[in-house]
Amino acid sequence: MNRKNMCAVPPMGWNSWNTFTENINEELIFEIVDQMKAMGYQKAGYEYIVIDDCWSLKQRDHGRLVPDPEKFPHGMKAVADYVHANGFKFGMYSCCGTRTCADYPGSFEHEYDDAKQFAEWGVDFLKYDNCFKPQRQDVQTLYRRMGLALANCGRDIVFSACEWGFYDVYNWIKSTGAHLFRSTEDINDSWNSIKDIALSQLDKMPYSAPYCHNDMDMLVVGMHGAGGNEYIAAGGCSTEEYQTHFALWAMMNSPLMIGCDIRKISEQDKAILLDEDLIAINQDIECRQSYEVHCESNSPEVHVLVKFLSNGDLAIAFFNMGDVPEKCAVDFWDIGLSQFQMQFEFL
Ligand code: GLA
Repeated sequence: MNRKNMCAVPPMGWNSWNTFTENINEELIFEIVDQMKAMGYQKAGYEYIVIDDCWSLKQRDHGRLVPDPEKFPHGMKAVADYVHANGFKFGMYSCCGTRTCADYPGSFEHEYDDAKQFAEWGVDFLKYDNCFKPQRQDVQTLYRRMGLALANCGRDIVFSACEWGFYDVYNWIKSTGAHLFRSTEDINDSWNSIKDIALSQLDKMPYSAPYCHNDMDMLVVGMHGAGGNEYIAAGGCSTEEYQTHFALWAMMNSPLMIGCDIRKISEQDKAILLDEDLIAINQDIECRQSYEVHCESNSPEVHVLVKFLSNGDLAIAFFNMGDVPEKCAVDFWDIGLSQFQMQFEFL
């Protein structure tokens, strides 16, 4: 095992939940793998193919999790093999409670056996949800237990804690061995959801650091209202809103997990997801958190984020979170450069 370099920078990949919810199967995963490779996502850095909730039968068999044979007739090892043969890493999902959020078996009191099972299947990434916890169980212990199980299962498995930012997660999550942690409740395909999540994390940016990243949830770029359930669908966004969403996630060091059906994506949305400059900013090896710079002349809807990059450059991003055009400015003096004012106009 070589946990030394696991997940130094925010993970990038694709996750089944936003678009497909329970409608998943091996054919879909294989097609996504093929497209991720053929359409340049792999080359751009997207590495993990993650199957979210609803992959198993509703009950365990002699204590073991069983992949639904209708959805995954060749079992999970076969899916992992296909994913690996194409140069990707394979992600799966479980939950720290007795059931998953969609009511499939959770890993409570099966942590060590399940971690071993995931290792046998060739899993490289485990998303670990937060539903159906026995009430008296301390959530920190539950996440630590799975963190420990994964660290000792004989395979390098990235631990993606999905605890929604509850119970002061920022203060203890690193102690569980998590490599990324969800900091908010579920995103949906609307500008309001994107905006709420981003604004809620502006003062949490110091908690994002190498090897343990603040996960602002999967991307909704390219979904256009095609979410897997009513809550996620939420009407969709404009191209500018998807661009802003991607730039926010990139600047704020969030993992970049695609949530749309990339088999049907438009060229315009694909260009957002493959933006080399934003990806490079997100993947900068030092993972310095962005900081916000205030300029008196800016409206309160305007947020200017600055991120120090490992080559000595600064990435500067201007976000207009409001609904009307705004002018905005930043004084170079305030970001450590010689005095000069940079101005920008949103149309
Ligand atoms: C929770 C998580 C989502 C998704 C669903 C699956 O709501 O936050 O990201 O994994 O469960 O049921």
